[in-house]
Amino acid sequence: MTDLKSLFANNVEWADQIKAEDPQFFNKLVAQQNPEYLWIGCADSRVPANEIVGLLPGELFVHRNVANLVIQTDLNCLSVLQFAVEYLKVKHIMVTGHYGCGGVKAAMEHKQLGMLDYWVRNVRDVYFAQQEKLDEIDDPEERIDRLCELNVVQQVANVSHTNIVQNAWAQGQPLSIHGWIYSIKDGLLRKLVDPIHCIEQVDQHYHMV
Ligand code: CO
Repeated sequence: MTDLKSLFANNVEWADQIKAEDPQFFNKLVAQQNPEYLWIGCADSRVPANEIVGLLPGELFVHRNVANLVIQTDLNCLSVLQFAVEYLKVKHIMVTGHYGCGGVKAAMEHKQLGMLDYWVRNVRDVYFAQQEKLDEIDDPEERIDRLCELNVVQQVANVSHTNIVQNAWAQGQPLSIHGWIYSIKDGLLRKLVDPIHCIEQVDQHYHMV
């Protein structure tokens, strides 16, 4: 219980600090949230979205799951995406992976983890599609990290394949999709791909508009 008590104590301290800097901060947040960014990242506790990019509550809409996946049948992720794009009108979506991701590692191993197997199966498919190149990498850690990168690239594409994003573009809404990766070793973000900001950058096969 002591540990949980300290969390509440931390919470009071945090709220006090924010109010000391801006007494109206929470009043303004109650009135509206107006984030420009949707962060789709891994649930890993070492990758705290807001802190990494120095944004306050209200500035970053966040969806996190194991291995930062965007799956076309995942109601949770798609609902977040729809709300962020259609109602909040975010301008940027960043799919942010991280090196050494346990979910990605699990997708490379030949053992069962239960329900997780179905989830990370999507990463296993990314591995299979790029297996030749990945297997050329001798260092196992490096191989996992490369798959972490390739997984982000695939998830960026998956975002661009949704009717949510394609409809927004068709209506002239400015919206860019970014693929980033975070290193737990140095706390830094890196860009992986050029942002996708229009339907012309999406493979014709996936056009729905
Ligand atoms: Co992870």
